[in-house]
Amino acid sequence: MSRFDALRAHRAAQGDVSISGLFDEGRASEFAVRHDGLLFDYSKTQIDETARNLLVQLTEDSSLASRRKAMLSGEKINETEGRAVLHTALRNLSGDLVLIDGADVVAPVRAMLDRMAGFADQVRTSTITDVVNIGIGGSDLGPAMATLALSPYHDGPRCHFVSNVDGAHVADVLRGLDPKTTLVIVASKTFTTIETMTNAQTTRDWMVAGGGDPAAQFAAVSTAEDKTAAFGIPAEKVFGFEDWVGGRYSMWGPIGLSLMIAIGPEDFRAFLSGAEAMDRHFCETVPVDNMPVMLALVGLWHNQVCGHATRAVLPYDQRLSRLPAYLQQLEMESNGKRVSMDGSDLDVDSGPVVWGEPGTNGQHAFYQLIHQGTRVIPCEFMIAGDGHEPELAHHHKLLMANCLAQSEALMRGRSLDEARRLMEAKRLSGDELERQARHRVFPGNRPSTTLAYAKLTPYVLGQIIALYEHRVFVEGVILGINSFDQWGVELGKELATSLAPVLEGEVAVETKDPSTAQLIRFLTD
Ligand code: F6P
Repeated sequence: MSRFDALRAHRAAQGDVSISGLFDEGRASEFAVRHDGLLFDYSKTQIDETARNLLVQLTEDSSLASRRKAMLSGEKINETEGRAVLHTALRNLSGDLVLIDGADVVAPVRAMLDRMAGFADQVRTSTITDVVNIGIGGSDLGPAMATLALSPYHDGPRCHFVSNVDGAHVADVLRGLDPKTTLVIVASKTFTTIETMTNAQTTRDWMVAGGGDPAAQFAAVSTAEDKTAAFGIPAEKVFGFEDWVGGRYSMWGPIGLSLMIAIGPEDFRAFLSGAEAMDRHFCETVPVDNMPVMLALVGLWHNQVCGHATRAVLPYDQRLSRLPAYLQQLEMESNGKRVSMDGSDLDVDSGPVVWGEPGTNGQHAFYQLIHQGTRVIPCEFMIAGDGHEPELAHHHKLLMANCLAQSEALMRGRSLDEARRLMEAKRLSGDELERQARHRVFPGNRPSTTLAYAKLTPYVLGQIIALYEHRVFVEGVILGINSFDQWGVELGKELATSLAPVLEGEVAVETKDPSTAQLIRFLTD
């Protein structure tokens, strides 16, 4: 017995129900959520009234409301690490009290925000021309994604991001920068991550060699202040945070320092307040009108009920080009788990594979498979009403037209008869007409959702990211997963550490399996 049985039975009973056929006068507005300038339209899916009722029932069966309350009130819901999950406190600008072990967390968060703002203003008015954020995973993807997304709001030094331990990354970023006018932010929750520490050391050497002063030009963001001191970063340039902020949920606090320097403290606060508004909506709204809840339920419908193992995130917004990578960590590191909270095997599939690229580029790459491949890939489109280039409004109209055309094409498809008519118009006939027509059939009836927003401002980006964070939480609660640990990254890290001495020739290659040994010999001969 799975909690998805009733939904699966309903889906089976629907058979090959046509999405277009579901539309009556009210469907478009009834199968959509509007909130605070956002519109989430899920009417182009096979979800009907019964499906939605059953999906909403899942939120009750899994006690979503009490799990949400537990998270927001500082209970240690990350049970395998014994930690609270309170990234929402980082954007709690209204100052509601949040306690962990009896201590208020909001006052120190505000004090830290003020300290960050003071430092950001100082950097923004100094001779610093470039900021290099060195971090990886949650200490990179959030600020890197948001800094690109909000580039129209940049009025501070240029910001760069180094994450990969591949020396090519740090070399390419540092090339052309002036070691005397560059600020380096070493961002690492643990301050032990090998990639980050290696890049930090290399960058410090580069700065010293170029006449810069690491004591003045290095800052750190971490929960491990003993380690930042050991690295030689003075305390006044260390911005600490607590272990109740998960790495992939951390861009709202000190990990967002590079973003704050780029756009300024005021716009950073607007970013936080967009997220805070989404938090309030998430807490206060009944499931059917609750955007994160409905986004999650649509996700569960496609993955756990319909069996579609991937979902494509397709922002028609070039500045959101790092969003799919950001969401890959957020969603897959959170809900890519094979056991439920109590350690028992999950009785359903875990979260889906998340992937994507901005439109319209993706259209000229992988949309072929989305339209005519044998597997169904639910698509999640995103589009703004306006861009930031009023002088290029005709570009934006074309962008919009393309976005809307894709979801329409996925739903409508093109029948064999329609394809035949097209071929007749090209004066084909007989077997050749039939053969050519078959290649031009689009099965259609493929589901998609669209998230529409007025313009990608700091506030709106905050709303969108908080929306996805809560989606992950809701999916995790319904699946019974701990969305806040990440044990699945450990084994690879351990093996990489044990492989280093083999590559250095200090440990015999034969200690490894034959395939790995063969690869080592090939690569090092
Ligand atoms: O590899 C997984 C991970 O622990 C992520 O969860 C985290 O965001 C990233 O590594 C970086 O960790 P840190 O901020 O401690 O360097």
